[in-house]
Amino acid sequence: MSKILLDDFLNAIDERKDYFFKSINYKKKDLKESENSKKNLDFKKSVHIYSHLDSDGLTSAAILASALKRADISYQLSVLPQLETKYIEEIKQEIKSYNRFIIFSDFGTGQLKFLKKELGSDNYLILDHHQPENLKEQPDIFHVNPYYYEISGESEISAAGVCYLFAKTLDPKNIDLSSLAIIGALGDMQNKGDKGSFIGVNKLILDDAIKIGKITVEKDLAISRHQPLHIALAYSLPEKLPTISGNEEKVKLFLKALQIKMKNEWNERRTLFNLSSGEKKTLLKALISEGFERNNKSKDFAGKLITNFYNLSNFDPIPDAKEMSKLLNACGRLGFPSLGISSLMGDKKSLQKAIEKNKIFKREISTAIRLAEENIRNYQNINTFYHNEINEKIVGTICSILVHSKEEMKLKPLIAFADSDNHFLKVSARADRELVKKGLNLGKILREVCKKMEIINPAGGHPPAAGAKIASSELKIFIEEVDKAVGEKN
Ligand code: C5P
Repeated sequence: MSKILLDDFLNAIDERKDYFFKSINYKKKDLKESENSKKNLDFKKSVHIYSHLDSDGLTSAAILASALKRADISYQLSVLPQLETKYIEEIKQEIKSYNRFIIFSDFGTGQLKFLKKELGSDNYLILDHHQPENLKEQPDIFHVNPYYYEISGESEISAAGVCYLFAKTLDPKNIDLSSLAIIGALGDMQNKGDKGSFIGVNKLILDDAIKIGKITVEKDLAISRHQPLHIALAYSLPEKLPTISGNEEKVKLFLKALQIKMKNEWNERRTLFNLSSGEKKTLLKALISEGFERNNKSKDFAGKLITNFYNLSNFDPIPDAKEMSKLLNACGRLGFPSLGISSLMGDKKSLQKAIEKNKIFKREISTAIRLAEENIRNYQNINTFYHNEINEKIVGTICSILVHSKEEMKLKPLIAFADSDNHFLKVSARADRELVKKGLNLGKILREVCKKMEIINPAGGHPPAAGAKIASSELKIFIEEVDKAVGEKN
């Protein structure tokens, strides 16, 4: 990340702040004037934040809502599965009828052309991190996107990070929202540096969160810290060990041989959190030798067994930022985004409810994974699945889980379809990082295919994760076109 371009990016955000304040006619009255009134502000427009439903979108929304609340700017908030053209048409009416200013977070870049056509060039601000179609164009004053400054929106900053920088520009006190930006970045799996570390602007945001005591970073064994130990070892190792992976009974024997107890004195299941440092060392040594001696793993494997964890200081009983991002994803995708957002804004009751929703979500996910696996179809260059009982809000999550957990799903991109409204299909596409390293860009492929087929809703996304919406009648041709386009990139 170049210092000059980072400065340009930060300056651009500062300019957007001026544009925003001017657009809503925000000005602080001087102290004398405000002595007799409780409010020291005067503004004409209220703000409506529209954000995406995944954890990056919900953290973006919570950051913006907190910042506006603190600045005494009234706002409304809506969470959408995607910024489809039908919503943009409704928003156009809203601006006209209610004199609103709109902030789009975690989407908007992909819909830029349509937004400009429908909304013109004022009354809204896009805070996004998706790759723009044309990087040669100068960014508009109503658009913030890291890609224009050669900063990757896939690995160096998420939408929550962009919203955080904007919030910090509005008021430096918003530095305490930095931990939310890290939760958002984890939701988009941006901790892709060595041992799960952050790179680029995310690293600077993490430094803010550490500086004010909202996050501590801890190195630990790279398995789930929340699931019972035998389940965590069976299903969440960074690389599979054929002798124990996927087999809870074998893991139990493995732990017994190491004299590591699976339950505590109150007969409760232990997790990685509950192990002593001595037990962790024993376990690590045993996993390394299991990997080397029995499974021919490379040295790389030992390195992957330790990773960074990001401990949150103020979301008790959820101490881990990655877990928090999963909880948010569950709230958004189950249709309870407000629970996730109010949890982030400090509401303890909402957090408890969100934890309950997460349990339901996990059950829904395991049923959907089974249905997806039973319905995989193999094409020349892609795999696909569709099942009418898989909800469109979770199809992306299922697609991600399959690509990350099944070796055979890493070889080709996985394109998933789920029923949406009015005979439309939601499309979610995911590819393993190795394919992306070789040059595959699913965001670009879906964009190009949809353009070629003149599909009404623009597609978009990142190289490893993208989405679209097509009419059911377009399915057959769409699959053929994507299969062909992926083949051409190989
Ligand atoms: O919807 P899904 O989770 O599959 O989307 C994957 C990624 O693609 C997300 O980052 C989402 O914001 C993006 N996307 C997009 N335009 C669409 C659909 C999805 O930018 N029309």
